[in-house]
Amino acid sequence: MDRIAITGGARLEGEIPISGAKNSAIKLMAASLLTDQQLRLTNMPRLADTRFLGQLLRRLGVEIVEQDGEGGAETLLTMREVASTIAPYDLVRQMRASFNVLGPLLARAGQAKVSLPGGCTIGARPVDLHLDALRALGATIDLHEGYVYAQAARGLVGAEIDFPFVSVGATEHALLAAVLARGHTQIRNAAREPEIGDLADCLNKMGARVSGAGTATIEIEGVDRLHGATHAVLPDRIETGTFALAAAMAGGEVRLTNTRTDFIETLLSKMEEAGVHVTRHNDGVTIKRDGGRLRAVEIETDPYPGFATDLQAQFMALMTLADGESVIRETIFENRFMHVPELGRLGADIGVAGGEARVRGVESLEGAQVMATDLRASVSLVIAGLAARGETIVGRVYHLDRGFERLEEKLSACGAQVRRIKGEEVEDA
Ligand code: UD1
Repeated sequence: MDRIAITGGARLEGEIPISGAKNSAIKLMAASLLTDQQLRLTNMPRLADTRFLGQLLRRLGVEIVEQDGEGGAETLLTMREVASTIAPYDLVRQMRASFNVLGPLLARAGQAKVSLPGGCTIGARPVDLHLDALRALGATIDLHEGYVYAQAARGLVGAEIDFPFVSVGATEHALLAAVLARGHTQIRNAAREPEIGDLADCLNKMGARVSGAGTATIEIEGVDRLHGATHAVLPDRIETGTFALAAAMAGGEVRLTNTRTDFIETLLSKMEEAGVHVTRHNDGVTIKRDGGRLRAVEIETDPYPGFATDLQAQFMALMTLADGESVIRETIFENRFMHVPELGRLGADIGVAGGEARVRGVESLEGAQVMATDLRASVSLVIAGLAARGETIVGRVYHLDRGFERLEEKLSACGAQVRRIKGEEVEDA
């Protein structure tokens, strides 16, 4: 297993291009199951998660070609015929979002057998809302031995889906299934994340009739079939926010390009409150921090447009060196403070009670060996390492490879001292 070694103390200066959004790319790839024509996705990130999903889609019958286009990496996906409607455990467990092939398979083939998902160990993360939505659309669902068996022999039928609370995955899943359902579907209490708008845009280019994505009520007029399309994956707001926080932690001046600031306004205003200089541009943002300590500020994670739970760990890393006490409330996942003991190993002073962490800022951090526990937590350790004295070694970086494209390269290009230690060079932790 690879590790990442960071020698703290270097200021960051330069430019970082932001990749296409992981969380969008994997849902867009699943949309290829809905048509027998080619879906061409541009601005594609190359990540472990897109690879995992690619393996599963190939098993189902999707032909996938990866190529370099004018605007960067592209993926061409074509499922002329359905080769299989079974998504086995060994492929689904690697990434929770693979579960979202269930709805499109049902819509296209009238049946599917999909393993219950795995993914990051950040709480229970059930799929009850996904299954309720598919049932509302007329599917019969049975659960046996870790698999969902779903049937809709005469096709899915439009319905009113009223989610009891906001779920990104369930909203996207309902959308992916409803575009081919007969009649009208209304999704209420829908998630409003930008990735949902991106999925709806792509589906509309494929001939779907979706409106209201990005608001709490999505309307879908079912169509008989979808066709091929070309769609550019929207920029990754979590990667943008992560590098913004890395620059603020290390100090210096970094311009993030190929991205959008409106998606991370909640984060940027919190960073400004803490004393970071933020300059917004048409194609991105410049983050600048001179010497001196930042101020401690409070955050609470919430569904979009609230503070993203996927940036909570990184923000906490920044707060470990702030002046004062920062209260960080996690309201989305019940087990998303696993980075706390690891940050503690670097000298951070953090107490957790229930869903609330109190970060008492310290004067300095000291490098140590730490362990990544999930995707976003792992990058918070890298951020902390950028400002810690001496060397920080982050183990289990496969979590990081799931969601960050060329992380070491992008940081090193701005002067960070970050390198990957290949698994064979050291004994695994
Ligand atoms: C997505 C993102 C993830 C992000 C999260 C919240 C992807 C691939 N992942 O995850 O990075 O952290 O949104 O912004 O896009 N829940 C249920 N039953 C369900 C579904 C969800 O109880 O059927 C719960 C979850 O356990 C969680 C909450 O709802 O507590 C929100 O989860 P959800 O929005 O569904 O997150 P994901 O789609 O899994």
